[in-house]
Amino acid sequence: MSGLKKYSFTGEAYQPQEELYFNDGREIELLHFIYDHASLEEMRGKPQRVLDAIDEFGKTRKYLMNIGEYKAKAITKLIKDENPRVIVELGGYVGYSAIAFGAALKGVGGQRYYSLEMNPEFAAVMSVLVDLAGLSNVVKVIVGPSSNSLERLVKEDTLKHIDLLFLDHYKPAYTTDLKLCEELGLVSVGSIYAADNVVKPGNPLYLEYVRSTVHEKRRKASDYDQTGPKGNPNLIYDSHFIEGWEPSGVPDAIEITRCVGVQT
Ligand SMILES: C[S@@+](CC[C@H](N)C(=O)[O-])C[C@H]1O[C@@H](n2cnc3c(N)ncnc32)[C@H](O)[C@@H]1O
Repeated sequence: MSGLKKYSFTGEAYQPQEELYFNDGREIELLHFIYDHASLEEMRGKPQRVLDAIDEFGKTRKYLMNIGEYKAKAITKLIKDENPRVIVELGGYVGYSAIAFGAALKGVGGQRYYSLEMNPEFAAVMSVLVDLAGLSNVVKVIVGPSSNSLERLVKEDTLKHIDLLFLDHYKPAYTTDLKLCEELGLVSVGSIYAADNVVKPGNPLYLEYVRSTVHEKRRKASDYDQTGPKGNPNLIYDSHFIEGWEPSGVPDAIEITRCVGVQT
């Protein structure tokens, strides 16, 4: 992806990631932290202010599994360069990426950011923070397992095409959900996928899939023992990763994949 730079980890890190690092009440604590914050009024309608407050919680209180400001910069730049109309995010958590990328999408005149989140409590926290940031007219939070939500959105005729797919949920589901998007006809030439955490914790099966040739994918698709969506092996991908840091300062990378053609 031309023009994407490697950002250096220069700032303050989030608190270290504990053994139990989510769903222990910290997401509701974050809401109280923000709504008790001295700068609350300055956050209304200001996405960056809300992101700063979420980062402040992560740095001074407890670790949060957000993409963080370093890797978020690279994807924000991608949105500015590529002008997508529709972005789908798999895994929304408390809304850090939805606020950062929803604001960038709004900035380029895009239409809709769908954030698919399985946990209804996280989705509720995200909805409140998206609203605080003034992005409710752009960001739509969809509650449920991503594969069910994708199928439902297509069936309802709500979602017809994905310009940018951001994968940041359950690591083994990256490949199956991408194949589902292929099978549903949601992605085509020009679609871009940004997959987080391909170094930490890593996702070799996903990397193998998006870096395979059409010939390799066709051969695997004909394996008898393959379960789950078969995808569309005819899509030609150009894929590479860009390096970055977790908000805790640990090195990581995002795989950027572009659909560049269809092989007949
Ligand atoms: C790493 S967090 C997402 C962080 C978020 N993208 C950000 O950067 O602010 C992963 C999220 O994916 C959600 N998740 C896991 N499996 C999922 C699935 N199959 N469908 C939808 N959400 C899922 C989890 O509940 C969790 O909130």
